[in-house]
Amino acid sequence: MRPSHVLLERPLRCLGRAGIMLRVSALRLLERILGSRVSLLDYTCLRLYSSGPLGAREDAHDARAYFTTPIFYVNAAPHIGHLYSALLADALCRHRRLQVASAAATRFSTGTDEHGLKIQQAATAAGLTPTELCDRVSAQFQQLFRDADISSTDFIRTTEARHRVAVQHFWGVLRARGLLYKGLYEGWYCASDECFLPETKVTWQPGPSGDSCPVSLESGHPVSWTKEENYIFRLSQFREPLQRWLQDDPRAITPEPFHQAVVQWLEEELPDLSVSRRSSHLHWGIPVPGDDSQTIYVWLDALVNYLTVIGYPNAEFKSWWPTTSHIIGKDILKFHAIYWPALLLGAGMSPPHRIYVHSHWTVCGQKMSKSLGNVVDPRTCLDRYTVDGFRYFLLRQGVPNWDCDYYDEKVVKLLDSELADALGGLLNRCTANRINPSGTYPVFCTTCFPRQPGLVGPSVRAQADDYALVSAVAALPKQVADHYANFQIYKALEAVSSCVRQTNGFVQRHAPWKLKWESPVDAPWLGTVLHVALECLRVFGTLLQPVTPSLADKLLSRLGVSATERGLGELYFLPRFYGHPCPFEGRRLGPETGLLFPRLDQSRAWLVKAHRT
Ligand code: MSP
Repeated sequence: MRPSHVLLERPLRCLGRAGIMLRVSALRLLERILGSRVSLLDYTCLRLYSSGPLGAREDAHDARAYFTTPIFYVNAAPHIGHLYSALLADALCRHRRLQVASAAATRFSTGTDEHGLKIQQAATAAGLTPTELCDRVSAQFQQLFRDADISSTDFIRTTEARHRVAVQHFWGVLRARGLLYKGLYEGWYCASDECFLPETKVTWQPGPSGDSCPVSLESGHPVSWTKEENYIFRLSQFREPLQRWLQDDPRAITPEPFHQAVVQWLEEELPDLSVSRRSSHLHWGIPVPGDDSQTIYVWLDALVNYLTVIGYPNAEFKSWWPTTSHIIGKDILKFHAIYWPALLLGAGMSPPHRIYVHSHWTVCGQKMSKSLGNVVDPRTCLDRYTVDGFRYFLLRQGVPNWDCDYYDEKVVKLLDSELADALGGLLNRCTANRINPSGTYPVFCTTCFPRQPGLVGPSVRAQADDYALVSAVAALPKQVADHYANFQIYKALEAVSSCVRQTNGFVQRHAPWKLKWESPVDAPWLGTVLHVALECLRVFGTLLQPVTPSLADKLLSRLGVSATERGLGELYFLPRFYGHPCPFEGRRLGPETGLLFPRLDQSRAWLVKAHRT
C-alpha cells in the first residue's frame, strides 16, 4: 500500500501553483482530512518527504500544458530536421505526462503550413493545383509522425475552415484595437522564407545564368523587389512590452543564448510589419475580411494555428492559453519571439509560456537541401535503425545550442554501444535464466547493503562505489527533469547513459555469476546485487519512456512493472534501502525474454551486402 502522505500529495499539488493563498487553502483541506491543525512547516515537510529520495515531483503540478511543433511547409517531403522538431516536442510532452496525474492535462499539436507564395509557386512547378500538393505532402507528414510514434493529440492544416475562422477573427480583433493601417510597403520579399527583408539583410550573388541576383544574407534564398499597398501592423509599439516580458521571465526563451539574441534584436530598430499581400499576386491564402483585394500574410495566418487548435475564438481556448510551450528551430525565432508575442499582446492576450529553440542538422557540414541532393530521408532511417533507435539517436546527439552533423556511422556506433551493449546487456545479465532461475524480482538484504555506508561486519558486502551508484540513480529523475526543463534532452540521456555504465560496473564488480543460490552465504548478497541492478533498470526504463517508448515498454514489462507503476510519481527507487517495503520483491518477471535492442553493425553489414548484390 502507498504511504498516506503520497495520497495526500496529489490533491495538494493541484493547488500548489496558484500561489500562497491556495497553499493556505491546501493546508486547511489537509487539516480537514487529518482532523488536526497543520502548520506550513508540516506541509513543506510533507512535500519534501513525499518526493522521497528522488525529488522528481518538485516541478510537477496538475496545471494544463500545451505543446506545439511548428507547422511544416508542404512544398517538399519531410526530412530528418522536421522529424527532429517533432521529436523534441514529443519527448517534452511525454515527459510531462509522466509527471502529471492525468494525461488529459496535456495537449500536443502539430500540422502543416499550406498557404503562401512558397506553396503557390511549388504547386505550379510540380504541375499540381495547390490543393493537390497540400493534400499529398500533408499526408506524408501525418504518416511520418505516426510511424515515428509522435504522440500528438491534434493535427492542423491551415487550409481547414476552422482555421480561416480563427485567423479572420484574430484579424478583426487587431483592427478593432486600431493596430492595423493601410500603407505603401516597398522592399525586398523572400518567397522561400516568406519574409520581408531590410536592405541591410540583402546581398548580391551570381545566379544560375551568371547574372548578379539579390539574395537573403541569412538564408541565401532569392529575394525580389516588392512595392504595393498593404495592411500594416503597428509592431513598433510593442518593443517595450516585449522587452518587459523577457525581463520578467528570463526563461521565456530557452536555451539562454536564444533569449539573449531576441533581447539584442529588440535593441535594434523594430519597424511596423506588413501583414497582407495583394491577392492578384498571392491568391493562395486567407482573404482579409471585408477586403478581397488583399490576402493575409502567411506568417500571421500560420502563427494563429496555435490558437485554432485549442478552439479559438470560442472561450474554451482560454483553458490552454497561455500555458503553452512552442518548440521551434532557430530559423523561425524572430517570427515566434517577436512577431507572435507582439500580435498576441495586440489582441489582448499573453505571450506563450515558453519558446524552446533548437539548432539544425547538417550533412557533411552543409545545410540539407533538395538542390544539394543531400536530404536525409527519415523513413529510410526509421526502417534501418528502428523507430526507437532513430528517436534515441536524434535526441541523444541533437544539441539545441549548436548545429549537429549527421552521418550513418555515428548512428550505428551510438546505438550499438548504448542501447544494445550497455542497456540490453545489463538487462540480459540480470534476468537470464542461468543467473535468475526463479524468474522473479529478488529480495534486497539490508544486512548486506545497510543504509549507512562504512559499516563493517561479516555480512556487510556493499562498498563505497555501490553507495555512489545508489545516490547517482536516486538523484537521476530530478536531474533528468531539470534537463528537460532547460530543453537539454541530450543531457538527460547522457545522464541516464552514465548511470547505465555505473550499474554495469556494479554488476561487474560483484560478478553475481560467481555466486551460488544454493549457498546460504552467497544467496542474500546475490539477490541484493540483482535487486539493486533491477531497481536501477526500472529507473532507466521509466526515464527513457519519453524518448524510446517501445523499448522502455519492453524493458519495464520484462521487469514486471505494470502500466500504473510507470509514472514519475510512482518511481520510488530502492525503497528497501530507505526502510520502506518494495512492491516488486518476489514478483514474477515478464515472460518476454528476447533481445532488448539488437546490435546494428551486423544487420548493417547485411544491408550493405544486399545493396551490392
Ligand atoms: N512553416 C514554417 C513554420 C510555421 S510555425 C507557425 C516553417 N516550416 S518548415 O517546414 O520550414 O520548418 C519547420 C521546422 O523544421 C522548423 O522548426 C525548422 O527549424 C525545422 N527544420 C528545418 N530544417 C531543419 C534542419 N535541417 N534541422 C533541424 N530542424 C530543421 O518554418
